[in-house]
Amino acid sequence: MKELSINFLGYNFKNPIVMASGTFGFGREYGEFYELSKLGGICVKGLTAKPRLGNKPPRIAETPMGMLNSVGLQNPGVDAFITDELPFLREHDTVVIANISGNTVEEYVEMTEKLSDAGVDILEINVSCPNVKAGGMAFGTSTEGVTAVTEAVMKKATSPVMVKLSPNVTDIISIAKSAEASGADAISLINTLLGMRIDTTTRKPVLNNIVGGLSGPAVFPVAIRMVWQVATAVKIPVLGMGGIMTGNDAVEMMLAGASLVGVGTACFDDPYAPLRITKEIEEYMERNTINKISDLIGKVNTE
Ligand code: FUM
Repeated sequence: MKELSINFLGYNFKNPIVMASGTFGFGREYGEFYELSKLGGICVKGLTAKPRLGNKPPRIAETPMGMLNSVGLQNPGVDAFITDELPFLREHDTVVIANISGNTVEEYVEMTEKLSDAGVDILEINVSCPNVKAGGMAFGTSTEGVTAVTEAVMKKATSPVMVKLSPNVTDIISIAKSAEASGADAISLINTLLGMRIDTTTRKPVLNNIVGGLSGPAVFPVAIRMVWQVATAVKIPVLGMGGIMTGNDAVEMMLAGASLVGVGTACFDDPYAPLRITKEIEEYMERNTINKISDLIGKVNTE
């Protein structure tokens, strides 16, 4: 038997696969395909202090080897999540991560208190959503913004806190270090890369929001590079994501320094992707006589 479990922030993830925020809703739809307890963890759709309808359509566009989205944080709001969705997730033996975005530092703090009280396992502080005007990426593109949100959240959080970083920055290392210095327990990256498409017939942007976030295999090498840079620069653990489609991609992400691996866009193509990827990781371990998956973390040989 291969040991696939990972201890991350004191939680036992039965395998390193975590469903990335915004690609798995609150798990109900995918739960019709398979038992959610098979997943290492689920990070829920980004929550905000009040319900949001999101941006006007069109808000999805296909791209070669990926997709653009400008959903704009459509969600029922943190209170409805706690009453209507969290009890369902709690029926399954998987780690529950709540992703939160605020317009202001105060909103991040308010949601942190509510979700900590509700007993969510881990909080993912989203300072990287590219599709909203206030908050989101506005906080995540400067060390000052990341510090302000992280320090405020850490004062109130009783659940461990992971800060989700944006790749749309010039210096990911200083941003990651500012999250660590502000007390974050872990870092997750990458959120989507800002992109745009134009319809050549109408000459209009394809997305109503004009720009959107690029995800999928097109971003994978960027994600590997940034995860490697961050994991070698900070001491806190890293959850790596961005374009993972196969078990080999997941192994690559762990070699780059990720302790856990987020899977997102792959699910739109194949709802069973997380189970297939887990099986492919096991097959890799078998072929390479690796007994513990944790032995792979950060083991890229750059000599
Ligand atoms: O637009 C969105 O809902 C995306 C959120 C995110 O990338 O964090």
